[in-house]
Amino acid sequence: MIKQYVYISTAVGLPREQVDEILTTCARNNAAKNVTGLLLYNGRNFLQLLEGKAESLDQLMSAIEADERHEGVLVMHTGEVEERTCPEWAMKLLAISEGIEVRQQRLEEELPAAIDPVIRKLVLNFAMLN
Ligand SMILES: Cc1cc2nc3c(=O)[nH]c(=O)nc-3n(C[C@H](O)[C@H](O)[C@H](O)COP(=O)(O)O)c2cc1C
Repeated sequence: MIKQYVYISTAVGLPREQVDEILTTCARNNAAKNVTGLLLYNGRNFLQLLEGKAESLDQLMSAIEADERHEGVLVMHTGEVEERTCPEWAMKLLAISEGIEVRQQRLEEELPAAIDPVIRKLVLNFAMLN
């Protein structure tokens, strides 16, 4: 079984370079540990979906919770699925479009079809927050 976490956290005005650094770390570590998922950042809050084997995922969640680049990590959803829903994404940064009208549509196009409806809703709701 594959474990999943969805959490939100707060990091007001984190510079793009720091977000890129996080993504570089994700690419390195997640590929090695078979962790996949997606990340959104709206300039104030992160939302991340992580999926992988329970052991590597629990360790990673502890590291992420202790990371000083953000605070207030709040797990919104945890569950188990038979197959990972983002097998292609070591960690995909999903862009939140500028225009609020196109956000939902763009994300709908990008989100994997197999994603749990609860998680889909969390992601879409997050993206609609200004
Ligand atoms: C919002 C956010 C998301 C992160 N996501 C991941 C992740 O998916 N994988 C990862 O290895 N580190 C992630 N990190 C970084 C970890 O907190 C930690 O710095 C890193 O795992 C340490 O790896 P290292 O020992 O190889 O430097 C994230 C950090 C933040 C702030």
